[in-house]
Amino acid sequence: MKKVFVKTYGCQMNVYDSERMISAMEPSGYVETKSKEEADLILLNTCHIREKAAEKIYSELGRLKFLKEDNPDLKIGVAGCVAQAEGEEIMIRQPAVDLVVGPQSYHRLPSMVKTVTNGKRTLDTEFPEENKFDHLPKDLKRRNNPTAFLTVQEGCDKFCAFCVVPYTRGVEVSRSPEKIIEEARSLVDRGVVEITLLGQNVNAYSNNHSGENYTLSKLIWKLSDISNLQRIRFTTSHPNDMSQDLIDAHRDCEKLMPYLHLPVQSGSDHVLKKMNRKHTADDYRRIIDKLRKARPDLLLSGDFIVGFPGETDEDFLDTLRLIKDIEYGQSYSFKYSSRPGTPAANREEISEIVKKERLAELQTLLKEQQVRLQKKMIGREVNVLFEKPGRLAGQMVGKSEYLHAVHVTGDRIRSGDINKVRIITSETNSLSGRIE
Ligand code: 5AD
Ligand code: SF4
Repeated sequence: MKKVFVKTYGCQMNVYDSERMISAMEPSGYVETKSKEEADLILLNTCHIREKAAEKIYSELGRLKFLKEDNPDLKIGVAGCVAQAEGEEIMIRQPAVDLVVGPQSYHRLPSMVKTVTNGKRTLDTEFPEENKFDHLPKDLKRRNNPTAFLTVQEGCDKFCAFCVVPYTRGVEVSRSPEKIIEEARSLVDRGVVEITLLGQNVNAYSNNHSGENYTLSKLIWKLSDISNLQRIRFTTSHPNDMSQDLIDAHRDCEKLMPYLHLPVQSGSDHVLKKMNRKHTADDYRRIIDKLRKARPDLLLSGDFIVGFPGETDEDFLDTLRLIKDIEYGQSYSFKYSSRPGTPAANREEISEIVKKERLAELQTLLKEQQVRLQKKMIGREVNVLFEKPGRLAGQMVGKSEYLHAVHVTGDRIRSGDINKVRIITSETNSLSGRIE
């Protein structure tokens, strides 16, 4: 038996891809290890979204190369979005790297590993004709986690001016509903009760199957027929693809959880235009209104970028205003980071100090909102899907419908249980409660 260690950076799709890479290696006699030191193959599944994310890879590779001194047979591979964007540069900058594989080619990993075992370095960052999903083993292992990710759509045709995704993940491709349903059934057979459908633009999902057009809402409805599947979520969405049928699904589909990650990036029309977002701040407000009409308790999450080239103080205030109007329960915010090859890459940048100040102000506001919405949960009853033991003895942690982490103490709770929990307290990033 050989051992493969995978370190995952970036988004949930990379988490999904890492699992698929491990199962792709299993027929070649590899099992997963959590220890780099005992690995025969180390794969870094990388993220290129911001400069810092990409730089981390080179420092990690700098550390990993020393493991080759103790284990000369160790092979090191770089996968994912940095591999796609700068594979050749990686090969040059870090001779310890044996193989580079892009996000669309990892079904070719076993043959690449054979090549490197024969002493040759290899790189594959093509967007191959054949579909990687058709080549990966289906007989996945039994899972010890009741939640799972399932990629339904990949790539992006939106071309936001700041974003590398259209270049690293390619054009929008939606998998066939048949394959998705089959994979969902197999996950449920292995104990999964909550599935999060993944796509870089998941709500742009569209696939013609047997003469019928499947949208994301239709797919969600079909999946909701799987009886032991209790919960469905999806991420990440673009405001312009938030169609009425999907909004209606939030009203009508019981298994679709009342949580939505809907990035807006900025609240200024001027900046949104420069970002090529193709919607205004008021368009976004209107979509949220519709969603809240359909599902009043929907918890919203967002992504924000501060310091985009050309962002003025007034633009930034517009973003704060939008955040105050919407009220987010969860959020992710970033300083703009110039990415090579993107339309905004050559624009004049805002000073680092201003970016830092704006980010701090924005994050203070977003944190206040998160705390306020968490405190509003106190006294309420939520349904918690328990996943794993908490830090304290006898404690279990799970997620509410609203994706809040909830801690409960109780000996009889098992991973995979869904229980009604009364919320008692709100901590920094989680809630605590008791089963009634
Ligand atoms: N700089 C900063 N943040 C970025 N994001 C994407 N590209 C950049 C960039 N160049 C953020 C966006 C996106 C999230 C995944 O990462 O907010 O929604
Ligand atoms: Fe990072 Fe985007 Fe690639 Fe995910 S798709 S790993 S967020 S660059």
